[in-house]
Amino acid sequence: MTSSTADTELKARHRKMWASGDYPLMVDTFLLPLGPRLVDAAGIGEGMRVLDVAAGTGNASIVAAQRGAQVTASDLTPELFDAGRARAQSEGVELDWVEADAENLPFDDESYDVVMSSIGAMFAPHHQDVADELVRVCRPGGTIALLSWTPEGMIGALFRTMGPFAPPPPPGAQPAPLWGSEDHVRELFGDRVEWGTLERDDLDITAFEHPRDYGEHFKGLYGPTIVARGNAVKNGQEAEFDEALNNFSDEWNRGTQDDARFEQEYLVAVGTRA
Ligand SMILES: C[S@@+](CC[C@H](N)C(=O)[O-])C[C@H]1O[C@@H](n2cnc3c(N)ncnc32)[C@H](O)[C@@H]1O
Repeated sequence: MTSSTADTELKARHRKMWASGDYPLMVDTFLLPLGPRLVDAAGIGEGMRVLDVAAGTGNASIVAAQRGAQVTASDLTPELFDAGRARAQSEGVELDWVEADAENLPFDDESYDVVMSSIGAMFAPHHQDVADELVRVCRPGGTIALLSWTPEGMIGALFRTMGPFAPPPPPGAQPAPLWGSEDHVRELFGDRVEWGTLERDDLDITAFEHPRDYGEHFKGLYGPTIVARGNAVKNGQEAEFDEALNNFSDEWNRGTQDDARFEQEYLVAVGTRA
């Protein structure tokens, strides 16, 4: 198999994974605050040309369009666009929806004022390729704005919990939560981006009554959890997987048994492209 065939197959698997479950419902349940958080940090306003990479259902894109920007929402998984279009319509904004791999963007050099990604580009496996593409399509003096789960935070820990059950990552793939490390971001972009903001914050989650409802939500709706659990089932490790996810949900609960609360740490990185 050539490396480009292998990559096409890998991306097809990733697309299928993100189209599985019900990611739009996860956004509605607890992820909505991330869109305005990133758009505000990026200083997006009237007339700016904005590219959202790995936009999903447009959580950040739709807010950017509401601020008067001309927005392209791009993603590997066009199955998510229907939910995004419906939300954009109900919010009264229009944007372009384009199928695109973050590692090989179908956009011209220096064609956007702002290139952003909210917990999105971090999931493409080859980090340096993504960083190079984000820089390429951003105009000099433009803004690169990223919001990423941190390795030390709850989603970093979720991926460590699921890792032993998941199919082995392909050679060369890097773990997604590394994008939440300040050092990793600095290294990927070098002197091509001057970072004005590199700050950590928490997404507060109060949508679940009992702690283990959190794990159940991910088991039913979140592509990476569905894939890891499917592999565990195939290997006869279903009970171990469920126990690990239950323990994880209990461990990260910051509320009570009947009123759960979780904090998912993320890094906001906003910089100017040289
Ligand atoms: C956790 S979702 C985030 C979606 C959205 N940005 C949000 O804030 O809700 C991750 C997204 O990354 C997309 N994705 C994964 N790998 C990708 C790749 N190689 N290129 C572009 N998008 C990718 C998935 O399709 C999915 O929509």
